Amino acid sequence: MDAVLDAPGTVVMLGAVDVGKTTAATALANSALRAGLRPAVVDADTGQSDLGPPATVGLGLPRGPVRRMSEIPLVAAYFVGDTSPAAVYDHLVEGTARMLSRARAASAQIIVVDTTGWVEGAAAVAAKLRKIRRIQPRHVIALQRAGEVEPILAGLPGSVAVHRLAPSPRVRPRDRAARRAFRERRFAEYFADARRFVLDLRTVRADRPVLYAGRRIPQARMLAEIPEGLLRHLLVGLAGRGGELVALGTVVGVAPGSHRVEIVTPLRSLARVRALQWGVLRVAPSGREDGRLPVAA
Ligand SMILES: Nc1ncnc2c1ncn2[C@@H]1O[C@H](COP(=O)(O)OP(=O)(O)OP(=O)(O)O)[C@@H](O)[C@H]1O
Ligand SMILES: [Mg+2]
Repeated sequence: MDAVLDAPGTVVMLGAVDVGKTTAATALANSALRAGLRPAVVDADTGQSDLGPPATVGLGLPRGPVRRMSEIPLVAAYFVGDTSPAAVYDHLVEGTARMLSRARAASAQIIVVDTTGWVEGAAAVAAKLRKIRRIQPRHVIALQRAGEVEPILAGLPGSVAVHRLAPSPRVRPRDRAARRAFRERRFAEYFADARRFVLDLRTVRADRPVLYAGRRIPQARMLAEIPEGLLRHLLVGLAGRGGELVALGTVVGVAPGSHRVEIVTPLRSLARVRALQWGVLRVAPSGREDGRLPVAA
């Protein structure tokens, strides 16, 4: 940790699931504060999200030491469309880069990027390297038990300082069921106080390439093509003028042949909403995950 505090900059946490990445990232932000440096935390773990709801990249600016990452105030978020990273990785990279720019604009001196535990296999190695090249961190903190992230470390530019750490024996692993329960609880909390609104798609545009088979599809065609049963509970990002996330919503109704979509969102007003970002994950207002849109039609 001292090596990072002595050479402040962007730090990427790297490691498989259950190695203590989030705990170490939080400790690093606390250490930065105690050393008189201004920290920021970018939570690019879209599944086990601590900053912002799942399926988003969140930016937090701690004002004082915290016990858990989730206590850090959220200042911005970017919707990536799914909690599982593989199919939406371009969006995850873009969101991480944007949250980093926001952190730098806020004069953060140490920016800690927490990441998913998806590190093993050729696709994961290529994806993580693509993200790290875009981020251009000064440091990578590699938490590993038996060399799991060495294939990623071998591909890093020479300019990155790599710090290898062994996981604490006190790490408590979470199985698949516990991970799903965690996400569903986070969504449930997010939508707990949500209200219904009707969006007119003639006045709210589609903002980013739609995550439907990777193609950009006009909203009217999407509504016509996707069976109503699959649109129901589709997670959407409600974006402001610059594409920033104002809030998440979930679709609760579409009248056949209509331009109107009924959504549920914790917002009190849609006044700031200019665009709709269509996700692929389906989440009920209760927080229950309801499967995904069939990608690759
Ligand atoms: N050094 C430590 N001392 C005590 N408990 C720890 C330590 N590191 C991690 N833990 C505990 O182990 C659990 C998992 O840790 P953490 O969430 O930091 O891991 P992670 O690598 O971020 O996991 P994930 O893959 O789910 O994102 C948490 O309950 C955390 O409190
Ligand atoms: Mg974590």
